[in-house]
Formats: sequence, structure tokens, C-alpha cells
Amino acid sequence: MLTAMASDHGGFRLKEELVVFVRGLGHEVQDLGCLDEGSVDYPGLGQAVAEKVSTGQVEGGILICGTGIGMSIVANKFPGVRAALVNHVYTARLAKEHNNANVLVMGGRVVGPGLACEMVRAWLTAEFQGGRHLRRLQQIEAIERRNFKG
Ligand code: RB5
Repeated sequence: MLTAMASDHGGFRLKEELVVFVRGLGHEVQDLGCLDEGSVDYPGLGQAVAEKVSTGQVEGGILICGTGIGMSIVANKFPGVRAALVNHVYTARLAKEHNNANVLVMGGRVVGPGLACEMVRAWLTAEFQGGRHLRRLQQIEAIERRNFKG
């Protein structure tokens, strides 16, 4: 899978670990920043990843800020992006199986690197189950079409 990743300062250390981890699993990773622990606003970094997912330039994205909340809010503003903030391996797996999440989000001040790696592994290896879940995603797409202009 071709994946884009970004973080703000609150997620920088975890992002650095996850870039190495995801590449180690054999995936291609575009690291879109940030580049150090200096304070930086998360919306632009979230946008960088979400735009690539929304336009099909990458298959998936991983975003990390302090809590994961800000990055989730940003990413879900983009058409076709289904960003899931996860704190557990179970929710990471279900994010793909039920929600077909194409962006995984976590909080660098919330989860440790071991759990974060296992959540990423669960999300990358799980498969969307379709069926009733597809029907629900189609309902979300209809909401998006009605409410997002431009
Ligand atoms: C930055 O201090 C923090 O607000 C940010 O990383 C994130 O947690 C926002 O949702």
C-alpha cells in the first residue's frame, strides 16, 4: 500500500517510529512532516495527507497529533476521506472491516509506540467486509454529497 503520513509536534516522535514500522512491513510511505518537535499547527499537515487520500494519489493515510482529535476533524472535511481515531487494536481492525477507514488517526500523547504499531498493523491487514457496512458507507456518501459544496 502507498501511504502518506504526517503529524504535528504532539505526534512527531510517534510518527517517526511509525514511518520506520510501516516501511518495515513492506509498504511505501510518503512522510509529509513535520520534521521536528517544534510547535506547528496541525490543520495544514492534516490537509496534506487528506488531500492525497481524497484525490486518490495515495491509498491510505496515517495522521498523528497530541490527541488525534484535531487531525480527525481536519481529515474528515475532505470528500471521500473516512478518518478513524483509534485507541485500541480492536477499533483499529474494525475501522477497516466496518468503516473502510482510509485514514488512521491516533494521539501521540495518548498511546505508546507498541500499541500504535499494533493498531497500524491491524488496520493494514484487515479487510473491508462490505455487505451491510457498504450500505452504511453509501449512506454516508449521500450525506457528504448533500452537505459538502465545491
Ligand atoms: C497541540 O498542542 C495539540 O492541540 C494538538 O496536537 C492536537 O492534540 C489537537 O487536537
